[in-house]
Amino acid sequence: MERRKSSGPPKRPKRAKKTNIATTALGEEPEKRTRDKSASMAGESKPRTLNVHVKTAKKREYGSTLWLKRQLNDPYVRQAKAEGWRSRAAFKLLELDEKFKVLKPGARIVDLGCAPGGWLQVAVKALGKNATVVGIDYLNVPPVAGAEILEMDFLDEAAPGRLKEMLGGKADLVLSDMAAPTTGHRSTDHLRIVALAEAALDFAEDVLAPGGAFVSKVFAGGAEGELLNRLKQNFETVKHAKPKSSRSDSAEKYVVATGFRGNA
Ligand SMILES: C[S@@+](CC[C@H](N)C(=O)[O-])C[C@H]1O[C@@H](n2cnc3c(N)ncnc32)[C@H](O)[C@@H]1O
Repeated sequence: MERRKSSGPPKRPKRAKKTNIATTALGEEPEKRTRDKSASMAGESKPRTLNVHVKTAKKREYGSTLWLKRQLNDPYVRQAKAEGWRSRAAFKLLELDEKFKVLKPGARIVDLGCAPGGWLQVAVKALGKNATVVGIDYLNVPPVAGAEILEMDFLDEAAPGRLKEMLGGKADLVLSDMAAPTTGHRSTDHLRIVALAEAALDFAEDVLAPGGAFVSKVFAGGAEGELLNRLKQNFETVKHAKPKSSRSDSAEKYVVATGFRGNA
């Protein structure tokens, strides 16, 4: 368990060829982009699909070959690399923000399950200098300038307290992209996902300032049952969204709840 103050800007892609200047989806200082007309950070138009063939190497298992092929052919993976985002997941937050405007300059936010740091990069960029951006993951996350990262299991009972200390006050936004490794056993996986989303909501209800927002990864039918009831009770609006950058063959969705009513 280690608490670190992060430093160092996101690295530029090493092999960016010709570049053009485009406005970012966040409406900020433009950054250099590769010359790809299909590139749209908010996913308005999908990046070009490729077809890279991958031979099955003798020692590589079939599953790994499929994974590698998917990575190489995934336009969001390539675009993330070209634009200096650590993960293709960065586009999901950009798209969600485009639609729901949850990233507000100067805000105090926490990102649950932040490795490898794509959402942190997006948040730091959108929120600007006077913001507080805190992330947690049990995996090591290389430093992100402008964010503070806690390397710890969020389900550890000490984690919420540590995060609150780092936030230094009520939060405006709680993000959770947490996902546990799948076991292949459907009902077990479903229960684990629901448990993570519920733990994230418990924390959100504790730390959010009135008017705050909660964004969480959910699966299948979205937030259901008890979780959905709680969201509807505690937030003015509750919507589900599937960003274009979320793989179409994945059951992943996000629930976006805004206008936290506050603790009684
Ligand atoms: C889909 S990834 C997050 C990607 C991230 N949003 C980004 O843009 O880079 C999900 C993360 O949740 C983390 N995670 C899952 N369960 C966790 C837990 N109990 N505590 C902390 N992190 C957790 C995993 O380690 C993984 O890094």
